[in-house]
Amino acid sequence: MSLSYNPHDPAFLIDGIPFEQLQEIRAHQPICPTPTGAWYLSRFSDVDAVFRDVEGYYADLGPITGLSGVETIPRDQWFLSEIPEPKHAAMRRLFNTSFGPHRTKEIASYIRTVCDGLLDRMLEQDVSDLHVGYAMPIPSLVMANVLGLPESTSDLFMEWSFDGSLMTRPETPGVKPGRPAVEEYFLAKLNEQRALAEPDNHVFKIFLEARFDNAPLEDQEIITQLHFMIQAGVHTTRGLLVHVVQRLLEDPELFERLHHDPSLIPVYVEETLRHDSPVQRVTRRCAHATEIGGIMMAKDTWLEVGIASANRDESLYEDPESFRLDRPNPKNHLGFGGGPHICPGATLARAEAVTAVEVLLSRLHSMEMLPGASYPPIPGSLSHQEIPARLNPR
Ligand code: HEM
Repeated sequence: MSLSYNPHDPAFLIDGIPFEQLQEIRAHQPICPTPTGAWYLSRFSDVDAVFRDVEGYYADLGPITGLSGVETIPRDQWFLSEIPEPKHAAMRRLFNTSFGPHRTKEIASYIRTVCDGLLDRMLEQDVSDLHVGYAMPIPSLVMANVLGLPESTSDLFMEWSFDGSLMTRPETPGVKPGRPAVEEYFLAKLNEQRALAEPDNHVFKIFLEARFDNAPLEDQEIITQLHFMIQAGVHTTRGLLVHVVQRLLEDPELFERLHHDPSLIPVYVEETLRHDSPVQRVTRRCAHATEIGGIMMAKDTWLEVGIASANRDESLYEDPESFRLDRPNPKNHLGFGGGPHICPGATLARAEAVTAVEVLLSRLHSMEMLPGASYPPIPGSLSHQEIPARLNPR
């Protein structure tokens, strides 16, 4: 049997991820070729091993920014994931300090205020769009707040996302001389912060005060990482929020169950991360010639690391295709990646999802789907389809 899998098939946005096909791939050809000449890893054990082995496999986000690979990109434009050790670990500490659990605690009440305010606005309408009215603005408003930026910046984050410039770098063909708008914006903010006696935002302060081999970071290095925070943190969280609100809408029994037992909400969020992973795959390249599962891979071979499939691997999860709130270890999934590159924004993303669900459950009696309306598949993370709903307050 010779199977192949295209993790970038645009049909997935409309038809959903073909999980049955992934099941077949895990069973018969767990390392499977893709149409671009990469290999798709479908089993938990391979995905987990590749995440852990950062000397053997390196991340390269070149193609998603319109470039062939990191070797064509100046080093000061390398996103955190692409920086090799030991500098990666040092740079990552700056991210952890920016978004760690203590920071998330500090903005917990802001997250709730945002969710309440958005729900107030949706309740003024007969029919609401849970996507544009709720799931989409929460992460960009929260990220603007974390970075000490005006609320209106969250609209800019979305604008740069819709016009595609968020996925470019200064080196991307077609970017006008200079930098993409997101980096111009962060450069101006960096200069404003530097002009103060002391930066008044903790993230800018952390990056401005950082020292590597006794030298500060270059401006381009800082704005590359600030840009990456938006790229990595806004749409991923939007995907998670879309999934948690849409499933609640589609499953009134689940809505009731969580309303009566809110202690299940964090479990609900974890099972969503496993079953409906907002990030379905990430890339790695082989740092040297190697062998995975009996397949010889040349140096620099591209790998599609199949988080979505690994999270439904039957060798690890009982009844993996079912959405269940009684799994023995709900956090045991690769929805945030694994190993030294595991997501530094996980605490923040979880807090946003839990709060978004808590607010809906505590203030709504029920949510109703609209007869005749069409809804995106779950998972369908980055599709821009509406999620129309009638919201009935308690
Ligand atoms: C539900 C929301 C999120 C999901 C599903 C998610 C998922 C992931 C995954 C799978 C990785 C590993 C990538 C790899 O190994 O190649 C990752 C890394 C990363 N995420 Fe998230 N993420 C989310 C939210 C966030 C947030 C809110 C932020 C920022 C505040 C963020 C920032 C990052 C960064 C900077 C990395 C790179 C870490 C490194 O390479 O060391 N993410 N994320």
